[in-house]
Amino acid sequence: MALQTTATATVSRTYPFSVRRLSDVAGAEISGVDLRDPVSAEMRDAIMAALEEFHVIAFRDQNLTKDEQQAFTLNFGEIEGHVGRLNSGEKYPIVHTVTNLDEKTGLPTETPTTHGNYFWHTDKSYHDVPSLLTMLHAIQTPPEGGDTLFANMLMAYEALSDAEKQALDGMRAVHSWEANRLNTGNTPASEEQKRERPPVNHPIVRTHENGRKSLYLGVHIGHVEGMDYEAGRAMLADLLDRATAEPFVYRHAWKVGDLTLWDNCVLVHRADRNYEMTAHPRVLHRTAVLGVVPV
Ligand SMILES: [Fe+2]
Repeated sequence: MALQTTATATVSRTYPFSVRRLSDVAGAEISGVDLRDPVSAEMRDAIMAALEEFHVIAFRDQNLTKDEQQAFTLNFGEIEGHVGRLNSGEKYPIVHTVTNLDEKTGLPTETPTTHGNYFWHTDKSYHDVPSLLTMLHAIQTPPEGGDTLFANMLMAYEALSDAEKQALDGMRAVHSWEANRLNTGNTPASEEQKRERPPVNHPIVRTHENGRKSLYLGVHIGHVEGMDYEAGRAMLADLLDRATAEPFVYRHAWKVGDLTLWDNCVLVHRADRNYEMTAHPRVLHRTAVLGVVPV
């Protein structure tokens, strides 16, 4: 698969840090910043502007503890917890570890307990108020592969025919943690988890503050509201398939120390199994910032 590492577009504005666009789809690399330093209002605004322009930004060579990642994340809003973790007694319930290490043996496995991140999704879309942005800090990465793929849903929407855009206008999909567990072949949601996260519905086409529209899809969706269950799922599967075609995808090849932020409102993402999962640990620390109700 070709790497999306070329960029012909330029950077549109001046930033108080060094920025290099990584592809025309999404992605920019930022260097010369230490995210352990206090974040000024100017810096925060510049990071948000970079996120709007590039959708995914990677700060290279960072070395944050969980405490420091939590503190950095709080500059951007309220941090979200994860289903079933807030009352788990973990020291860092809001800094979640994404890993292929087996819970019991601590060894790398190709069947980690949590593997929903290998399916296309947008974070926490099973919430009424899903994630605005997510941060992943690379602690351990395989020598090759284990990339994260990001698909640009603004571009995917633009590529639809006028008839399709019209047909999707006003349609809503039902998202739930239960659907996530079913769709990913994971342990079914417990009754407690279902009570904690009841199904919610969101528009299939989101309209953003700047007026642009994007598709809002992914593995957390169970069905289309008001449509035959199987027909709705087939339509969504086809849409997701086309929306994640290579021309809309940026592939992020991780380096240890990367701290990557992305905009969940306009992207879907997934980890790639393109590495020896039983040989190499892949460990990243994740935080997510609460967003807005999709419209
Ligand atoms: Fe995710």
